[in-house]
Amino acid sequence: MKGGVGKSALTVFLADFLSSQHEQRILVVDLDPQGSTSKALIPEATIEKAFKQGRSVTTLLRLACNGGVSKEEAESCLLLRESGGKPRKGSVPLGPLSVLATNRDDWRKFTEEINSLQPTERWKFLDVLKDSLAPLADDFDIVLIDFPGSEIFYWTTMGLRATDRWLLPEIPDFLSVSDIESVVEQVQEAQKNSTHTILPLGTLLNICPNRSSGTYSKARAALIRLQDLNAIPPLFSKDSEVLHRPEAQKATDWGSEASKTLVARYGPATKPFHVGLRKLAKEVLERLGKSSDKDRLSVVANIRRKLRDYWRS
Ligand SMILES: Nc1ncnc2c1ncn2[C@@H]1O[C@H](COP(=O)(O)OP(=O)(O)OP(=O)(O)O)[C@@H](O)[C@H]1O
Ligand SMILES: [Mg+2]
Repeated sequence: MKGGVGKSALTVFLADFLSSQHEQRILVVDLDPQGSTSKALIPEATIEKAFKQGRSVTTLLRLACNGGVSKEEAESCLLLRESGGKPRKGSVPLGPLSVLATNRDDWRKFTEEINSLQPTERWKFLDVLKDSLAPLADDFDIVLIDFPGSEIFYWTTMGLRATDRWLLPEIPDFLSVSDIESVVEQVQEAQKNSTHTILPLGTLLNICPNRSSGTYSKARAALIRLQDLNAIPPLFSKDSEVLHRPEAQKATDWGSEASKTLVARYGPATKPFHVGLRKLAKEVLERLGKSSDKDRLSVVANIRRKLRDYWRS
């Protein structure tokens, strides 16, 4: 949920690897009005055309607010990335995937409408994303939800209440790591008055520089302490960490699109970056099969202060 830690990049990488290499049926839900995830997966012209036809997250949410969504209605809001494309030698073709994109103007309008409601009324609409996705449950194996960078109460809470498991992306940087407390609070807040439990999936270090750097080791050590307190989801293995690589940026920055995304463009690769992402996708799948209600996280007080101490020690 924090800005610039690679939420969108990781969503794109996981969508690509899980659909192309593991044949998972993937739906990507882009809750960020900037739409960087959608634009990395679907050509911008296709997205614009879809918005003109009213195919977006907000259309789906409005239907849910007005009494319910049928499977056909939900499916008609999705944008499809076809499979295929010419892979590089030794690579695999892109897997198909679906994207639920956010129309910025409509996002703003919808947010204003929700904000104009009385708090007691607003509460009723917190589960509309969950309700909107329910009719699609049989169509997909995994739904990846990308969150906006700053906390926008309604969207963050609504998004979290639609999730079964959360992945915490981190970068080895003190300010980013110390922001964990507010992220954990948001997850706890979203579960209030809900029977729904959001289970931890994992904490992932992204944009890792040289692993011999002091900042990297301090960040990892601090995260391990928090993981041992059961305050954050368990770290993914070191092999699954995502390195700081220019190709990561190329694959996810604005203007890139379906034909250029990671698997097709950079091939099978023995490159450490690729090997890491492959390992990550595999580990994600393993964890999805494993988590259980017993794995609920503990409420740990003063995370921020503890982190400062860990960081210094
Ligand atoms: N492993 C990586 N190596 C190099 N650059 C990366 C890596 N992961 C992400 N980036 C780049 O870092 C920037 C921030 O990443 P990204 O947009 O995915 O973050 P975010 O958490 O989604 O940000 P926001 O909060 O704005 O939505 C982007 O320019 C992206 O291309
Ligand atoms: Mg983003």
